[in-house]
Amino acid sequence: MTSEQSEQAPENESEKVKAGLGAIPETALWTLYHRAVEARRPDALLIDPRAVDLVERIDFPFEERFGPGGGVQTQVQALRVGCFDREVEDFLAREPRGTVVCLGDGLETQYWRVDNGRAQWLSVDLPESIALRESLLPPGPRQRYLAADATDLGWAEEVDRSREVLLTAQGLLMYLPPAQVRALIAGCAERFPGGSLVLDAVPHWFGRLTRSGRVRSHGYQAPPMPWSMDAGQRAKLCTAGPAVAAVRDVRPSGGRGLVRALLPLALTVPPLSTRRPSVTVLEFAERSERSERSERPERS
Ligand SMILES: C[S@@+](CC[C@H](N)C(=O)[O-])C[C@H]1O[C@@H](n2cnc3c(N)ncnc32)[C@H](O)[C@@H]1O
Repeated sequence: MTSEQSEQAPENESEKVKAGLGAIPETALWTLYHRAVEARRPDALLIDPRAVDLVERIDFPFEERFGPGGGVQTQVQALRVGCFDREVEDFLAREPRGTVVCLGDGLETQYWRVDNGRAQWLSVDLPESIALRESLLPPGPRQRYLAADATDLGWAEEVDRSREVLLTAQGLLMYLPPAQVRALIAGCAERFPGGSLVLDAVPHWFGRLTRSGRVRSHGYQAPPMPWSMDAGQRAKLCTAGPAVAAVRDVRPSGGRGLVRALLPLALTVPPLSTRRPSVTVLEFAERSERSERSERPERS
């Protein structure tokens, strides 16, 4: 962290920032906590001092509410974050002055992990989440925060279309109704020709468990996840809209211990490989490609 970026952890508990969030926005504290737990390890899979610092600055009973962390769940979170970071880094290597739009950004600290000093960043989240983000992570000159519902595509008007755009929806879509997920994907594909969207999904079996209130640990109950997708079904995302041109799997790599040993199997051997949590990139058609597509005669 640079001195401009670093914040002092408060010495006094009363200086901490209160986080009174509703059930869905609160899930950003869960992901933040797991990133911080992972980042504190000497053999961390994720370098994220900003997350560690945030957990110290927020007045919230993290451990009491979410448990000690550090197990498989924490590693899986770190591997998932690694997939998103890799995609953003690849994008910025191709488009150093591009824009990264983070839908449902919560208290993600990705900017501090992978920014290249030239890109533009836009965080979109619900008003209560953005208020907390603003107070804890004041935006720098190339960052903007927008309090908006990601499913209402008005935020897209705020994005500078003269730059290349990468959208991310990390830990967001599972909280939306399926019809809204499809409309959001189709709307993004329409508005950002040549752009792409990185998203993650929980498998159907896990979505069902959340909907019946059976995903609990240490007294914390995960909110219901209306949208789920098995990894083996990702090709269907192409049907969300005519401008979704291609679908690509983003595979986690690395890990420790049992996770490291089992990951190659989980990624290749069904039914694990087809029913695992997944990260996917959707590529959107260029404008020229779209006119070609619409001019093509319908096959009978
Ligand atoms: C699990 S958290 C993920 C936060 C962050 N992306 C991360 O990975 O740490 C889900 C986030 O989605 C946000 N969210 C949920 N529904 C939303 C919506 N309709 N529009 C914008 N943000 C939403 C929540 O407020 C929360 O910040």
